Amino acid sequence: MKKCEKIYEGKAKALYTTEDADVLIQYFKDDATALDGKKKGIIVNKGVLNNRISSRIFRYLEKNGVKTHFVDMPDERDMAVKKVKIFPIEVVVRNIVAGSLSKRMGIEEGAALKETILELYYKSDPLGDPMINEYHIRAFGLASNAELDIIKAEALKINKILTKFFDERGIILVDFKLEFGSHKGEVLLADEITPDGCRLWDKETRDKMDKDRFRRDLGNVEEAYQKVLEKVMR
Ligand code: TMP
Ligand code: ASP
Repeated sequence: MKKCEKIYEGKAKALYTTEDADVLIQYFKDDATALDGKKKGIIVNKGVLNNRISSRIFRYLEKNGVKTHFVDMPDERDMAVKKVKIFPIEVVVRNIVAGSLSKRMGIEEGAALKETILELYYKSDPLGDPMINEYHIRAFGLASNAELDIIKAEALKINKILTKFFDERGIILVDFKLEFGSHKGEVLLADEITPDGCRLWDKETRDKMDKDRFRRDLGNVEEAYQKVLEKVMR
């Protein structure tokens, strides 16, 4: 599948049209940003690693009954995806306290939770993705009630599937961010599932294997992503 015209460029990916009006190509870049774009850098080879990792995970989710935008991986940095209209909502699922939850609640990273937390954020770079709740989604019409019900149920189902998937490969799925889109009236998991948008800790050592290595200048970022790829390919 050939890339035609670039229609969007984000922080980590670009989007191209193809000859098929229903299919786009997501191109994975090496650029990395954090702290709402204030920290910028490059993680060598990240685009290739993330495309492989995400393609593997989307295929696995599809096999387990999750509808995703994934079509194919035609090239090392290209992912063919169904064209969706992205809901301006970021869904974060948390299994263990980390990151902004640790700050907000004043509870140490790594603390256990009595149950999984699902959080909703308004997807807006200029606003820094503020946290919202279901009332905001209804009041601003960000998704219909039926769509929101599917989004929440799918996010929790994906968490169950991926927690087990990573656990079997020696990795703790601490938290992650999902985006959904609508395609011909169907709600599909979209965007990517990669160490850019997940917290992944080594089960034995609790070493970080995700973008926190970049955010917090811990070093060995590419090596960590490479290790995640090797583990998820099993
Ligand atoms: P947080 O602790 O910073 O709120 O992040 C929770 C999870 O969501 C973490 O795995 C990183 C991911 N995430 C993104 O991928 N993009 C974002 O814009 C934010 C805020 C979080
Ligand atoms: N929203 C964050 C940023 O661009 C993403 C991240 O930290 O991963 O700064």
